[in-house]
Amino acid sequence: MSFALEHEREAREFLAELRREISTHAGVGHSILGRMKTDPRSRFDFMVLAGQHFPLVGNFTRYMELLLLRAPSSEAKCWLAKVLVDEYGERSEGQDHAEHYQKFMHAAGHTPGQEDNVPLHPEVVNFIREHYRICIEEPFLVGLGALGPGHEWSIPAMFELAVAGLRKAGFAEKEIEYWTMHMDQDQDHGAWLEEALVGYCATPEQRSQIRRGALLSLDARERFWWGVTDKIVSEATRKNLPPGHSAASSEGQITLRQLRAKWRIEPKLIEDTTQESTS
Ligand SMILES: [Fe+2]
Ligand SMILES: [Fe+2]
Repeated sequence: MSFALEHEREAREFLAELRREISTHAGVGHSILGRMKTDPRSRFDFMVLAGQHFPLVGNFTRYMELLLLRAPSSEAKCWLAKVLVDEYGERSEGQDHAEHYQKFMHAAGHTPGQEDNVPLHPEVVNFIREHYRICIEEPFLVGLGALGPGHEWSIPAMFELAVAGLRKAGFAEKEIEYWTMHMDQDQDHGAWLEEALVGYCATPEQRSQIRRGALLSLDARERFWWGVTDKIVSEATRKNLPPGHSAASSEGQITLRQLRAKWRIEPKLIEDTTQESTS
């Protein structure tokens, strides 16, 4: 067997093992998802979930754009760009995925124009912050591990459980297209990012960076689902108790709108001045 073929076989084996590891991670099979069939959720629960999930949908392309800038080869950039083109709406009638999600939000009971005005559980904000940190500060392969295995490989499994719950709650197929569309598209996105990963699994260091990124992302995802669960309980309490009850307070929680006004995300030129003085 040639060296290149042997390398590819090893890479595919590593990636298959990583797929197995991810499929059993608590971020993918969190109890809020795993119990959708036995412990059905109401439309109200999905309204709360939608308000917390929308900021993740609305920030995802930015993580990937930041990672694209740092991709070490045109081949890797091509695979990332293919995913981005879909996210911008190529296969969803020109509607980008965040716009598409809003259609689901309206069906779930959110008022148009107020989708980004929902107080967010701190774990929602932490999830987004962690992914910007990963895509900006960590090595490129940690970022690719977070967005490939951590997102595109795991979303079809998570969404399959969510869709079972959405159908049980009485949503029409048209209303949950965002979710069903991702069960298909993310199979492709996962496969494309796997092609980007195959070329970068040669050393133990590279493999450990990819795995670390995936696990950082899924650990944040597990905390995100706990945050959603907490929000559903506190919003249900708020609905059933007189206003001002402390158990239902969202005081101090920031909205996506406020977060966007407060955060500035920018690629920077960093000049290494020590190079000048030594040359
Ligand atoms: Fe998407
Ligand atoms: Fe995707």
